[in-house]
Amino acid sequence: MDFELGEEQQMVRETTRAFVEREVKPVASRLDREAIYPSELVKRLSELGLMGIVVPQEFGGSGMDLLSCVVAMEEISKAWASLAVAMSVQNSLVCAPIARFGSAAQKKKYLSSLARGERLGCYALTEPGSGSDAGSIQTRAKRVDDDFVLNGNKIFTTNGNRADLAIVYAVTDPAKGKKGISAFIVEKNSPGFVVGKLEDKLGLRSSDTASLLFEDCRVPGENLLGTEGEGFTIALVTLDGGRIGIAAQALGIAQGCLEESVAYAQQRRQFGRAIAEFEAIQWMLADMATEIDAARLLTYRAAWLAEQGRTFTKEAAMAKLFASEAANRAAYKAIQIFGGYGYTKEFAVERFFRDARITTIYEGTSEIQRLVIARRLIHGEEIAHEVHEEMF
Ligand code: CAA
Repeated sequence: MDFELGEEQQMVRETTRAFVEREVKPVASRLDREAIYPSELVKRLSELGLMGIVVPQEFGGSGMDLLSCVVAMEEISKAWASLAVAMSVQNSLVCAPIARFGSAAQKKKYLSSLARGERLGCYALTEPGSGSDAGSIQTRAKRVDDDFVLNGNKIFTTNGNRADLAIVYAVTDPAKGKKGISAFIVEKNSPGFVVGKLEDKLGLRSSDTASLLFEDCRVPGENLLGTEGEGFTIALVTLDGGRIGIAAQALGIAQGCLEESVAYAQQRRQFGRAIAEFEAIQWMLADMATEIDAARLLTYRAAWLAEQGRTFTKEAAMAKLFASEAANRAAYKAIQIFGGYGYTKEFAVERFFRDARITTIYEGTSEIQRLVIARRLIHGEEIAHEVHEEMF
């Protein structure tokens, strides 16, 4: 057993950290306050090879491992979770399912440009009436000649407004329930693809969250991802990977809270000494650090298992559950340590507190992660094994 990062992962950490220090930290709070989407920084992520970090080089990606992706996500999230989620969605919810389930033609047409960041993608599953119960989606896709015609409404789609294409989940055969769901690659310029309402959110203020409407939207048959009826499996396998990304995001937010808190506690003086000298503060810092280490180990393990082609559904759910809940506890404590100052927009911990909140909700709530874990404890691991092999 080896707890050291490899050379490649350390290199990714150093490069990403330097980029974040130089280009992200100085602008994050202002852009977040003004809810401005960071187009220039997303472009920089592409230039650094981070928008397709795990996509093989033959398809335009950086060909790195999932742990490198986690390390990069962690570094970016330490400074700005809004930017990190754009990268996470592109890698795990868009590139990964095309790499895993896409035809040779789909990979050639879409994967390379996505991996290079020339195109942005989004993952359209959630609907007004279908959140945790993802199998109950109502969006319909009817076969007409060689095409499919989509009708329905998707919500809470990260990158939704900016995306050039969406992976859309729709029912092709209502009689078959979840086995009648299929996945489609839908280009933004398809007639009948309309971007609806943009969400005004508590946190991730600069992340793009949109509803998408499909009104008789015609999609060529060749854009069916995987086979007809395979959509629900694709959605869940994809989310397993996505949950590792969100665990890494939560981990980064928590680490950001800790670093800000340690620095502040050493500099802030009350009762004639630095508040870091008080046990009440030390205990909070110690608890934060311990939980962050536990979250990191769970997240790295899930990434390592996925990389080995082993079953990781339960471990990804555990990582996301623990890291996201730990991030919220860390953000709570950080504000407590900063006191009144922490409640103002002058300090980043106020933003971290708001950003941490979504991590226990999107890509599966904490309650859904517990359900996933419990089902695997009771019914075994076999279900997901087959589909996780050869993720790329
Ligand atoms: N991998 C592969 N297959 C899986 C699987 C997995 N991880 N989990 C389940 N399956 C299979 C099952 O074996 C079953 O197959 P059979 O019918 O052949 O037995 C089939 O899928 C159906 O499984 P379930 O009966 O367990 O399905 P369910 O309806 O009970 O739902 C769930 C399972 C885990 C609750 C799922 O619906 C779920 O994950 N819900 C949460 C959805 C979610 O995370 N949404 C977030 C959307 S993205 C987002 O947040 C926005 C963004 O842009 C970031």
